[in-house]
Amino acid sequence: MAKIQTIGVLTSGGDAPGMNAAIRAVTRAGICNGFTIKGIYRGWEGLINGDIKTFTTEDVSGIINQGGTILKTARSDEFRTYEGREKAYETMQREGIDALVVIGGNGTLSGAKEFAEEFDVCCVGLPGTIDNDLYGTDSTIGYDTTMNTIMECVDRIRDTAQSHERIFFVEVMGRDAGFLAQNSAIACGAEAAIIPEEETDADQLAEFMKRGIRKSKKSCIVIVSESPKCGAMYYADRVKKEFPGYDVRVSILGHLQRGGRPTARDRILASCTGVGAIEAIKQGQRNIMVGYRMGDVVYVPFSEAIRTDKYLDRRLITVLNELSI
Ligand code: F6P
Repeated sequence: MAKIQTIGVLTSGGDAPGMNAAIRAVTRAGICNGFTIKGIYRGWEGLINGDIKTFTTEDVSGIINQGGTILKTARSDEFRTYEGREKAYETMQREGIDALVVIGGNGTLSGAKEFAEEFDVCCVGLPGTIDNDLYGTDSTIGYDTTMNTIMECVDRIRDTAQSHERIFFVEVMGRDAGFLAQNSAIACGAEAAIIPEEETDADQLAEFMKRGIRKSKKSCIVIVSESPKCGAMYYADRVKKEFPGYDVRVSILGHLQRGGRPTARDRILASCTGVGAIEAIKQGQRNIMVGYRMGDVVYVPFSEAIRTDKYLDRRLITVLNELSI
């Protein structure tokens, strides 16, 4: 295998707070270890189109505290095609990029896996998504910040819910995963969470209403995971029809959950996994995601990281149920 001298770094998919800290870590650790680092703009699109700049340590100064990504991001349809990936490979050859560090979520790492296998390219992934839906890491970069943002918003919603004695359905992001909903519900003292992991098993709304909006509670907060069919609006409409008498409101938090200054936890996670990515490349590792488990940097094969069944600890459901009586 040819010696790796130049490493490209990109962010792809939904931005997440802490991505900048990760770009900074990869750049600085890379330069520290004698590599040339090239920043690739707009994710896979930038690799296809050659939207690339050689980074110095100054290029990543003053960004650790910023949300979003200085490299920009995109969801590339062209990279989903073989022809798109071929163009990306040709750019790598033209630019002399020997390895890639890709920062993103499930879709990004799935793309990296396919690309790495097809063209025999060294790819290392960092878990960058607010959804926390990657396997083999305790948390993903951006998840903690988003949890705190949701908590702040729901604390405010609680004030008005209590004043007006209303039921609020608050919709949060997470794509197909309920981590944001379940854990923010615990952190906010919400009365219930409606999550995709439980969708097939039960009518979560009926169970919640049956369990009882406690008599002495005149207001309550239900956190609902986003869903094309049964998001917060769906449940609010059902309550209006099936349980008349309650004053119901909906609040969809939307993209404000993705912005903002990363928390200390996300900055540290991004910094440690970023340094871990350079270490992995030095060791000759490839096609792995760098995760963080119980205080240790770990290397997780892409095939494992992108499993779609990351386990939501069911004890969290008990915690919420028992504490919301
Ligand atoms: O994957 C991150 C995420 O924020 C999901 O939680 C959400 O479903 C999706 O991205 C929204 O994507 P977009 O910004 O493209 O609408």
